[in-house]
Amino acid sequence: NKGKYEHYMQKEIHEQPESLTTTMRGRLIRGGSCKAKNVLLGGLKDHLKTIRRSRRIVFIGCGTSYNAALAARPILEELSGIPVTMEVASDLVDRQGPIYREDTAVFVSQSGETADTLQALHYALENGALCVGITNTVGSEIARNTHCGIHINAGCEIGVASTKAYTSQIVVMAMMALAVGGDAISSQERREAIIDGLFDLPNKVREVLKLDNEMKDLAQLLIAEQSLLVFGRGYNYATALEGALKVKEVALMHSEGILAGEMKHGPLALVDENLPIVVIATHDACFSKQQSVIQQLHARKGRLIVMCSEGDAAAACPGSSCRVIEVPRVEDCLQPVVNVVPLQLLAYHLTVLRGHNVDQPRNLAKSVTTQ
Ligand code: F6R
Repeated sequence: NKGKYEHYMQKEIHEQPESLTTTMRGRLIRGGSCKAKNVLLGGLKDHLKTIRRSRRIVFIGCGTSYNAALAARPILEELSGIPVTMEVASDLVDRQGPIYREDTAVFVSQSGETADTLQALHYALENGALCVGITNTVGSEIARNTHCGIHINAGCEIGVASTKAYTSQIVVMAMMALAVGGDAISSQERREAIIDGLFDLPNKVREVLKLDNEMKDLAQLLIAEQSLLVFGRGYNYATALEGALKVKEVALMHSEGILAGEMKHGPLALVDENLPIVVIATHDACFSKQQSVIQQLHARKGRLIVMCSEGDAAAACPGSSCRVIEVPRVEDCLQPVVNVVPLQLLAYHLTVLRGHNVDQPRNLAKSVTTQ
């Protein structure tokens, strides 16, 4: 049932304040004055000690689920102090990459049925790793075959392009980082800020959804383009990859997410006055580096669309030549949840304007159960 919406993708983008609330329900504790703020993940609690003792945490997934894990990687590293590595499921299987008994392998999948991810799971089980499942489908293969896990609880996702599952996956993994990180005094302030940020996140997403018309106007401007680049770094490298994936898969427009730190190592050659480039430059520890990326792109007459924090437009953009998308500011590790929303909206409107099928993009299936 699409309710008042024309497409499932549109509905699922707009219901993110609610899906995020459902994902967090009963899992965050913000007690009275003497009760510390905390997170409770029932499906993980008996395995937390093992996870904390592991030598490495390996995130494994495909497509959007991989991107969600990439977005959560920095906060898991920061709070746990454990090295976190990333594996695209098919590539891990192709390489038969080393997985050890001392590893925790975390399988991220909306459907819980993706063949590549399942194969990687069997491989990790054979190699003796502790296997954790993060899926949106109770009773799915991945949920049933992992040792423990966390349900995403984003509600059924029907549009082939994953939207609400992505933001809920990031929130689940941020909560996992809080749970694995434990309650060392040194990180208490940071943990409490994240928990407060999680409580407020649905409101911030509600706010950012107000950019809908602005993103429709931007889509109108980009309707006939051949290509769109998206630059991000730090917490928002994943946002760049995910924004580009959405544009590519539904709007059928070439789009590439680029790690801004790699700009000078090749991508800069593409910059001219025609190619549109989205630069994600919201306020975090990487902001000044992104400012300098913007200046360099500007010096080469790049056609810039800058995503920055509210009130930062003047600091982020030199001159008045770039278009600005201002988004609400949240705790840095949660910012990817807010930042991806305008890019989801842009992909959606581009698709409708270009006359393509939104919910069933050409050649794609919701759940990829073959290899
Ligand atoms: C993109 C998309 C795909 C899936 C990928 C993994 O919008 O939907 O990239 O994310 O096929 O699917 P799951 O998460 O079900 O394992």
